[in-house]
Amino acid sequence: MLAELLALAEKTAREAGDLVRDRREAVERMAVAGTKSTPTDVVTESDTAAEELIRSRLFAARPDDGFVGEEDGVVVGSSGVDWVVDPIDGTVNYLYGLPQYAVSIAAQVDGVVRAGVVHNPASGETWTAVLGGGAFLDGRPVRVSACSSLSLALVGTGFGYDAGRRARQASVLLDVVPVVRDIRRAGAAALDLCAVASGRLDAYYERGLNPWDLAAGGLIAAEAGAVVTGLRGAPAGNDLALAATPGVATELTALLERLGADHD
Ligand code: IPD
Repeated sequence: MLAELLALAEKTAREAGDLVRDRREAVERMAVAGTKSTPTDVVTESDTAAEELIRSRLFAARPDDGFVGEEDGVVVGSSGVDWVVDPIDGTVNYLYGLPQYAVSIAAQVDGVVRAGVVHNPASGETWTAVLGGGAFLDGRPVRVSACSSLSLALVGTGFGYDAGRRARQASVLLDVVPVVRDIRRAGAAALDLCAVASGRLDAYYERGLNPWDLAAGGLIAAEAGAVVTGLRGAPAGNDLALAATPGVATELTALLERLGADHD
């Protein structure tokens, strides 16, 4: 069953990815169709079109499933399977024509994420995982890096859209920068998590992620050997999500707990 869910997710993510990439390549400047939590939290017509496409493909194949999408809310299902979907993670990058954006689709079974796909339409790269089955990039197994020291770790992070939260996130970062190799802010949480899975980052953390940012990428990172967690014993979630190599996770978790990175 998980292989079937993954195959449906992957096919759908590729189709939605082609749609959003073709729409982006067709125009020099992408229009903002609306804003959400703040004036900088944008939605384009491609976000909406891609979510509609994903929703229609998934419901055509599995009409009794539930659906949680970034743009269009929640459908309660009856099958025990819920799809958690970000049609474009990294919408600001997409808006500006930067190639760091992704379609993210996860299947939750009885509340647990068990299959996930993150597809970058600009690069053509596709990460996949099912629970207990390892993680793959374009069909080849991926593994986290061997980094075992925070001081040598390349660490990704991100910022929310609310000004107050961003100021707090920046102040936490002031105390992280001096004790790590360097910081990256690529602008798409799902791809940051896949970067940890592929050893392109040694760790990633962010406060304020939504389920659709985290679901597929979190599974992929964990299946590649990352520790995926929140702080103070909580699971990765909105308060804080951290994905890191086992050798870096303990140090980074302790540092972020000390800095109160899970609070505004
Ligand atoms: C955002 C991106 C960004 C992260 C934000 C997310 P969106 O998702 O993943 O990298 O820093 O927290 O909200 O809005 O582009 O789908």
